[in-house]
Amino acid sequence: MTKREKSKRLKIILVVLTILTTISSIQLEILHGEPFMGISFKALVWIHIVVSSLFIVVASNHIAIYWGDIKGWITRFNKLKKRHTKWLISFFLVTGLTGIIVALPFIIGDNHSTLGGIHGKLGFAALIFTFLHPMKRFRG
Ligand code: HEM
Repeated sequence: MTKREKSKRLKIILVVLTILTTISSIQLEILHGEPFMGISFKALVWIHIVVSSLFIVVASNHIAIYWGDIKGWITRFNKLKKRHTKWLISFFLVTGLTGIIVALPFIIGDNHSTLGGIHGKLGFAALIFTFLHPMKRFRG
């Protein structure tokens, strides 16, 4: 598979995962701990963890196509001219990190944490930049 074909395939997968992550995030935000169509809230959080982690992994592969080895990513990030792309990456970084932190009380004790709410708001900001990212005037 050529680099161009791989890039195109990843972009299609990313669109699907963006939609799934958005649905899952809105669901958790609205439900406030309640089950949905017979699916327990805990199961919905697990679905969210799997879908959004997959999203971050595929997005990292998408970045690697343009930026190559992870060792050079900080330099490439600092050289970015488009401020929107910097915000996009920054919001994803903190969303991913806070996601891992809030996942721990869930795995251990089924608890909602205050940080969970903050993580959700950061996640929505990341998603807004994700929707803007493919638009021509924001691309960078
Ligand atoms: C990819 C971007 C992500 C977005 C847009 C996102 C968005 C959200 C939203 C909106 C909520 C609901 C917050 C609330 O109840 O007020 C949430 C909860 C949660 N997220 Fe994410 N998330 C993302 C990534 C992740 C990742 C990577 C993980 C874990 C590895 C994760 C783990 C969790 C957990 C455990 C909760 C429940 C927290 C709680 O209720 O205390 N999220 N997320």
